[in-house]
Amino acid sequence: MPFNFKNPSKSFAWFYSLFCPIYGRKFYKELLPALKLNGTESILDFGSGTGVLAKKIIKELSNGGTLSCLDLSEAFLNRVRKKLRKYTNVNYILGDIQEMNMSSNTFDKIVITWVIHHIEDEVRLGLLQSIVSTLKPNGEIYVIEFLAPPHGIPEIALIELFNGIGLSGRIEYRKKNTGLFEFKRKQN
Ligand SMILES: C[S@@+](CC[C@H](N)C(=O)[O-])C[C@H]1O[C@@H](n2cnc3c(N)ncnc32)[C@H](O)[C@@H]1O
Repeated sequence: MPFNFKNPSKSFAWFYSLFCPIYGRKFYKELLPALKLNGTESILDFGSGTGVLAKKIIKELSNGGTLSCLDLSEAFLNRVRKKLRKYTNVNYILGDIQEMNMSSNTFDKIVITWVIHHIEDEVRLGLLQSIVSTLKPNGEIYVIEFLAPPHGIPEIALIELFNGIGLSGRIEYRKKNTGLFEFKRKQN
């Protein structure tokens, strides 16, 4: 990770809390209806950061749904805890998913927003496989990602990455150098 998310300075965490809602606003606005939630779903927000998206999703889960926020950064996860303190249907998961024994077939939807480009090439595939194993058979994964190299991942490369682990999908919305993708397991 080029950014120090694990031990962010106070000023970096503060900057992130302000920057993410402003920069992400138009993409979250596209993502929320695309999720097609009825409020009963079990959702994983992988790399939940300071919880900007989590705060929007939790409001949609009023019919017994649950939200799991997973992040490597304790400081960021603590910010999510604070933001969502009034909700009892949230799980906070700290650490590396590859070192956890997460149950397979758990989540109806998984959101991964602006996270994949922070994961080193060598571990990207294995890590995504661990994430996908937690998805229910008919579940869906929604990704928002920077597309312009060197910081981002080109559209084709991102689709191929998911194709390589048995998912098919496409870009649903694009603005400048950022895209929203939807993936699901390939049907045999
Ligand atoms: C740019 S922030 C995006 C946060 C959030 N998804 C959003 O939309 O604002 C990237 C987040 O991914 C987390 N992250 C990076 N690599 C991770 C990994 N391997 N496992 C879990 N979280 C990770 C970082 O700690 C950070 O909180």
